[in-house]
Amino acid sequence: MTAKKTGGLAGISAGESAVCTVGLAGKGLNYRGYSIHDLAEHACFEEVAYLLIYGKLPNQTELTNYQSQLQSMRKLPDALLQVLKLIPKTAHPMDVLRTTCSMLGSLEPENNTEKQSQIADRLLACFPGALTYWYHFHRGQEISTETEEETIAGHFLHLLHGKKADALIERATDVSLILYAEHEFNASTFAARVTAATLSDFYSAITSAIGTLRGPLHGGANEFAMHLIEKFDNAAQAEQGVGEMLVRKDKIMGFGHRVYTVSDPRSDIIKSWAAKLAEQNGDTKLMAVSNAIEKLMWDEKKLFPNLDFYSASAYHFCGIPVDMYTPVFVFARTAGWAAHIIEQRNNNRLIRPTSEYIGPEPQTYIALAERV
Ligand SMILES: CC(C)(COP(=O)(O)OP(=O)(O)OC[C@H]1O[C@@H](n2cnc3c(N)ncnc32)[C@H](O)[C@@H]1OP(=O)(O)O)[C@@H](O)C(=O)NCCC(=O)NCCS
Repeated sequence: MTAKKTGGLAGISAGESAVCTVGLAGKGLNYRGYSIHDLAEHACFEEVAYLLIYGKLPNQTELTNYQSQLQSMRKLPDALLQVLKLIPKTAHPMDVLRTTCSMLGSLEPENNTEKQSQIADRLLACFPGALTYWYHFHRGQEISTETEEETIAGHFLHLLHGKKADALIERATDVSLILYAEHEFNASTFAARVTAATLSDFYSAITSAIGTLRGPLHGGANEFAMHLIEKFDNAAQAEQGVGEMLVRKDKIMGFGHRVYTVSDPRSDIIKSWAAKLAEQNGDTKLMAVSNAIEKLMWDEKKLFPNLDFYSASAYHFCGIPVDMYTPVFVFARTAGWAAHIIEQRNNNRLIRPTSEYIGPEPQTYIALAERV
């Protein structure tokens, strides 16, 4: 195992939370006490979003009502559509979601925190429509952002591909949303909590989180993982190419984790979905390449795939463009961010750590004209 470095607040508890435990101390990764394995096996993403935002699993009536409520919130305001048209085709789709969140915050501002859960729901309902509206607009088509689809996964895939998704693909996407929905004090959630703790508005906290998620050391890793996997035609090439990267001390995206040390409990779940989809597609290359990279990373570095590595393959088989992988993560994690913003607000204290000063000793000010 490669030694962990100090710094980056590694191993430091930055507060209490009842939303999720990442499963250390034998508890297993769970959301509000429910095992991620049970949720991924039996629940749909809307059940999980309800659990995170409203604090309990919905019964059948509550779930049906919640899905209908989310469906009814999908229409985008005209002013937002105009803004989406102005975002260049060359922009990264994460720009689209960051701007969507920000613009909605201007159009439908949070005047009162009693509406915070509805804002979370509105964002969950709007993000797939905003992303796909922008995507299709720049390919010559203005789409309606409303569908009859019950699930966010089905709604997104329908909007993206212009037709109802295949059942296996929809469920794979749904499961991936469950797995991506929440993960304790990860960087983007922490950013959301820091913003919320200043008593800023809900949209600002989510906008901070989107900006933080995008980096390749966090959510952006799923896109970089796909770029890597796509480079190789077979397992032998992958082994050689990744081996050379390790010699150069390159980071292999989709591997390693700040908190987990031997495995990411979400990885096997999404890997099994990627394998099912590969089989349905009759694809033998992508999984062979991925398995070879996984084996090499363990043999050489004792590093394991995190959720992002096999999510990349799963999304590939779902026909999702690579630069939408991290935005799909946003669709899901919005539920977790919302839960944390609400929790932070319920027992708020400004988050303001101190730093250890390592700069120069006090010095004499030199007048501008006298400086060399
Ligand atoms: C997730 C991550 C940021 C955690 O990092 P961290 O706790 O700060 O650990 P470090 O980056 O300091 O890594 C510790 C050592 O392991 C190595 N390492 C960690 N992840 C690695 C990876 N994915 N590829 C190659 N080496 C890796 C580092 O190079 C470092 O080696 P060194 O001590 O010889 O310099 C890191 O594993 C990473 O960058 N992974 C790739 C990005 C990714 O998949 N992010 C999604 C996370 S869910």
